[in-house]
Parts: sequence; C-alpha cells; structure tokens
Amino acid sequence: MILVTGGAGFIGSNFVLDWISTGLGPVVNVDKLTYAGNRENLAAADGNPDHVFVQADICDQDRMSALMAEYRPSRILHFAAESHVDRSISGPGEFIRTNIDGTFSLLQAALGYWRGLEGKAQDDFRFLHVSTDEVYGSLGPDDPAFSETTPYAPNSPYSASKAASDHLVRAYHHTYGLPTLTTNCSNNYGPFQFPEKLIPLMILNALDGKALPVYGDGQNVRDWLYVGDHCSGIRRVLEAGRVGETYNIGGKNELKNLDVVHTICRLLDEMRPRASGSYAGQIEFVRDRPGHDRRYAIDPRKIESELGWTPAETFETGFRKTVAWFLENPAWVEHVRSGEYRKWIDHNYGSRG
Ligand code: NAD
Ligand code: DAU
Repeated sequence: MILVTGGAGFIGSNFVLDWISTGLGPVVNVDKLTYAGNRENLAAADGNPDHVFVQADICDQDRMSALMAEYRPSRILHFAAESHVDRSISGPGEFIRTNIDGTFSLLQAALGYWRGLEGKAQDDFRFLHVSTDEVYGSLGPDDPAFSETTPYAPNSPYSASKAASDHLVRAYHHTYGLPTLTTNCSNNYGPFQFPEKLIPLMILNALDGKALPVYGDGQNVRDWLYVGDHCSGIRRVLEAGRVGETYNIGGKNELKNLDVVHTICRLLDEMRPRASGSYAGQIEFVRDRPGHDRRYAIDPRKIESELGWTPAETFETGFRKTVAWFLENPAWVEHVRSGEYRKWIDHNYGSRG
C-alpha cells in the first residue's frame, strides 16, 4: 500500500493511474478536492480495488495520522499543493497554508507513523516529496542549468512556499532520520492539466476563438517534460534513490513561451484547422506577470547517471499527444470550466489588456 496526497490533481492523477494500471499495488489517494482536484481524472480507476479515495486536508494532522494507522503505507508520495504561480501572486495565503503548514502536518504524522514501524518495514519506508525547479530562481541566458547543488532563490509566493516545504523535508531527514527523498521537476504538460496553465489554456482558448494571452515579450524560457515522464522519474527515485537525497527531473526541452504557443497553433492548424488562416492570428501580448522568472533549465545528469532514468517522449511526440487528448476529451474540458474557472479567467486576464 502506498499513500498519495493530491492524487486528484494533474500530476497526482497521472501517477495514480499509471501505478495501478501497471499492477504495482494498492493506493490510498488523499485529496482535499480544491478547485484543482477532480474525481473525473480518476474515472479509469472506478471500481478498481487497488484504488481507495479519501477526501481530506493534509493540514489536518490527526486525520493524516489516522489514515496512516489505518492503511499502513510502505511509502508516502506527497503531491498535494497549491501549484499556480499567478494565483500565488493574487492570493498567497492558501499557498502558505497548504504548501508549508500542510507539508509540516504531513511530516509530523509520517514521523510518528514511521517511528512506530519495526525492522524491515521501518528500514524500507520512504517519504517522497514532489517539488519544483522554481525553488532555484531564475537563470540568465548563458547560466548553467539548475543542478541539485544550485542555491535556492525562490521569487514568487508559490516557489517560496515550495522551497520552505523542501527545507522542512530536508530537516526531518537530517534531524529525525525520516527516510525522505525529494524530486525537483521542470514544467509538466499532458492529460488532465487544469486549463489555468499555459499549454491547456492556449489549446482551449484557440479552439474557442479567444485571444492567446502571451505575458510580456514571450521570450521567457521553460524546460518542458511530458507528465508520464515525470511519473516514471518519481517511480525510479522511489525505487532506487538514495535516502535523504534530492533529484532534479527534466526533459532538456528548453523553449521560449512564444515558440510553445506557435507549436500549439501549428498542431491545431493540422489537427483541427480553422475556417480561414492559422490559430497564430489569435496571439496577443498582454501585461507581464509580476516578478516573472526569465528562464528555467534542469540539469538531469544525477538521475540519469545514478538511476538510469531518461524521458520517453520528445517535445514533438509529447505535445502532439497532449493536443490530441484535449481534442478527444470535450466532456472533461466542459466540466472543469465551471463557474470557479470562469471567475479566475476574468480575474487574471480582465485587467491585463
Ligand atoms: P494541481 O494543482 O493540478 O493539483 C494539486 C492537487 O492537490 C489537487 O488535486 C488539490 O485538490 C490537492 N490539494 C490542494 N491542497 C490540498 C490540501 N490542503 N490537502 C489535500 N489535497 C490538497 O498540481 P500539479 O500540477 O498536479 O502539481 C502536483 C505537485 O507537483 C505539486 O506539489 C507541484 O508543486 C509539483 N510540481 C508541479 C509541476 C507542474 O508543472 N505542474 C512541476 C514540478 C512540480
Ligand atoms: O517549473 C515548474 C513549475 O511549472 C511548477 O512548479 C508549477 O506548479 C507550474 O504551474 C509551472 O509554473 P509556470 O509559472 O512556469 O507555469 P505556467 O503554465 O503558469 O506558465 C508557463 C509560462 O507561460 C510562464 O513563463 C508564464 C507564461 N504564461 C502563462 C500563462 C498562464 C503566459 O505567457 N500566458 C498565460 O496565460
């Protein structure tokens, strides 16, 4: 039995579905179901006895302890977080609560549970914390990519809250001996990504005939990784990572935002052509994100050389699969674009002009 937090979100649901479909064993999936959590992401697990869903808040330490006592997990994978940078700028409070206080509560519960284990069960237990490359801050055009020893320099309330959670995980290993692992990954994309993030937002706006809002000059660089490759990296770290270590996961796929948007337009022009002209005609430059990090890039040599992990998807295959998934799942798209989603779109884009 493994315990996953945030398994109804984008990456967590991909991880849970991959895990149970390959018969790796039962999962207890603990998620608060915020706006970003969606039971529909887990429809393929309906009726599968290897999947137990529990709606709960990671900030509730007593509840986390009770769930660990009941389900006796051999591993805890911690995905739950507030994850969107723009939301952290307009409302940082929830980020401090879930990402910092919530990780603290989960660590406290896990420490109590782990201390009660004995022998091999205690030796084999792992707490894997899923984190981000944003904790390292922003790179200049010629700076080397982020390695595991790059100093932390988070710039947004989101990345600062994730950095704090990484430090807590590190401290629980160093001070109490809790067997932790931390992964810091680059930008993910793929099925079930909530359409507040760049790639699904652009696909859906394009299909709706709406503006494609590129922040600033569109020259900011992100390192893109298909979500299935992130999940395979996490599984590899869980299986063979050295306790107490951190591993960077990335696809060596650095792209400027404007090039990402043009790629999406090109794929849509081919797969769902407009009546006339290219979707690229819908691109609009809008006011920049405050404090917008210029460039992220991951140096994945540690996970590649120590653990033999490499991504399966290229930029071209991953983007094509993703665009196809959004075209093939209109019902999922309609359901996530509920009242709450519309409110966010009005709030974030209404004043960018
Ligand atoms: P997401 O926003 O899609 O999903 C987050 C999930 O956590 C949701 O299901 C939500 O309901 C749940 N959740 C939020 N607060 C909770 C709470 N207090 N208690 C229990 N559950 C709660 O996020 P995502 O994009 O899937 O990211 C998952 C993790 O991976 C996060 O920790 C994020 O920082 C990290 N990460 C994301 C990316 C990316 O590109 N999306 C890249 C690197 C790392
Ligand atoms: O690097 C990993 C991080 O990647 C994760 O930790 C975060 O959870 C995840 O949200 C993502 O953060 P970003 O801020 O990089 O992702 P986002 O999709 O919001 O934006 C990607 C880039 O696109 C960024 O430079 C901002 C820009 N952008 C975004 C949106 C939503 C636009 O130009 N227009 C937009 O409308």
